[in-house]
Amino acid sequence: MRTATFPSFAPLSQPAEADAAVIGSGIAGLSAAWELARAGLSVIVLEADRLASGVTGHTTGKLTALHTSVYDTLRSEHGEEAARDYADSQSAALGHVLDVAGQLGVDCELEKRPAFTYCERPEGVDALRAEAEAARAAGLEASFVTETGLPFPVAGAVRVEGQAQFHPLKYLRGLVDDIVARGGRIHEGTRVTRLHGGDPCRLTTEAGVTVSAGHVVVATHHPLFDHAVLATRLTQHRDLVVAGSLPTDRDPEGMYITGEGGKRSVRTSPLADGSRLLIVTGEAFTPGSGEDTEARYARLEAWTEQHFPEVTLSHRWAAQDNSSTDTVPLVGRLPTAGDNVFVATGFAGWGMTGGVSAGTLIASLIDGAPQRWAGLYDPGRVGSALRSAPSFLKAQWDTGKHFVQDRLDTLGDGTNGPVQDLRPGEGTVVRAGGGPCAVHRDDQGELHAVSAVCTHMGCIVAFNNGERTWECPCHGSRFGVDGEVLQGPALRPLERRNPEDL
Ligand code: FES
Repeated sequence: MRTATFPSFAPLSQPAEADAAVIGSGIAGLSAAWELARAGLSVIVLEADRLASGVTGHTTGKLTALHTSVYDTLRSEHGEEAARDYADSQSAALGHVLDVAGQLGVDCELEKRPAFTYCERPEGVDALRAEAEAARAAGLEASFVTETGLPFPVAGAVRVEGQAQFHPLKYLRGLVDDIVARGGRIHEGTRVTRLHGGDPCRLTTEAGVTVSAGHVVVATHHPLFDHAVLATRLTQHRDLVVAGSLPTDRDPEGMYITGEGGKRSVRTSPLADGSRLLIVTGEAFTPGSGEDTEARYARLEAWTEQHFPEVTLSHRWAAQDNSSTDTVPLVGRLPTAGDNVFVATGFAGWGMTGGVSAGTLIASLIDGAPQRWAGLYDPGRVGSALRSAPSFLKAQWDTGKHFVQDRLDTLGDGTNGPVQDLRPGEGTVVRAGGGPCAVHRDDQGELHAVSAVCTHMGCIVAFNNGERTWECPCHGSRFGVDGEVLQGPALRPLERRNPEDL
């Protein structure tokens, strides 16, 4: 986000009409908007914050169809054809980015690299052999190898040729410029709070401005306006990321991932001084779990410095992803929001190819063009819902548990002892004024208090000490210490409380 610039766009202040309105400006939303604008539709993009400042602004930017070990799972749970369709659609998205970047003359640091899923422990080898075979059967140029460019030995790895990495925001800058050149309108700081599907669809923003649109694309990461139907088929996880410069001759020259040790993902990207920026992701956790995120950052930094001793770490951040309970993203019509509404979500951390693929798929659905992969990604699919029943039920159980148990946990004995004990940088949930209250002490010693009841569906938020945010364990909403919405599906801030009443 520091190495790409976007123009600023004013919030929407007047009622508007368009053939298509896109809510959300990550890679899925902007890809859909660009496809629709290119097809000749009038397009309006509505972004609650700044362009691409959500998940897409925090991604590691791998453009690959190798998604850890998805093919063996797809083959066994959805069948050979589904695995092939998945591979084809993700590979097509990769090729599409290369084509579009070329067409638009965008310099987005595209680099061809092989992608690897590796394991260090011998126990993981059989699963990776199976994944290599499944990925090859799905049409990828995949093989099982024991040698990689990593500076430490692996027990085995799946290697897929012909993949790529890029600077996602530089790519999206190219799309944004072209959308505007084609007459598309873009508004930042414009949060959509109501949507009625129909013909036309009607949207209302937080400022009370209305938009009438023939079609609406909901590309908000977690799907807003689905009345908690799709939400039951999504789980959230948050990954930590650390980065720093690495001498060029230490570049592992590939994109790597392992599910071992709480996940580790490695790639590098070019820096202006000729060295490489090493980007390492890991320590996946469920947002709102109240875990010690600082300790997780420390573990990730230690792992990175141990495995890449020449790195000089300088940055850290986090990214949040959601996954569907049956593995496949949810892209297509969003029937619970009414007619002519479409959704793209559940990319499970693979939103670069997934988002681009979703953009082309939704544009085809709006255009009425046949789309080979529509059935695989259809959010209304039912066959796989049965097969994914255990994951679905677990997601429901976890949500219900948080809704009930977290309330019981915060009832306490009515004393506010923990608030007095809070040290700078810490946060806790206590009972105050008859309800759960989320309290944080900042570095100056000042207390910030808000209601701990998530404004989405009422679960109790927990503190993330590494990012100093309140997070909801049920569907992943995130809030600042003064209650502002950082990430949906919540649309309204946490209510402010007076710290003096604690
Ligand atoms: Fe759904 Fe909090 S209750 S995000």
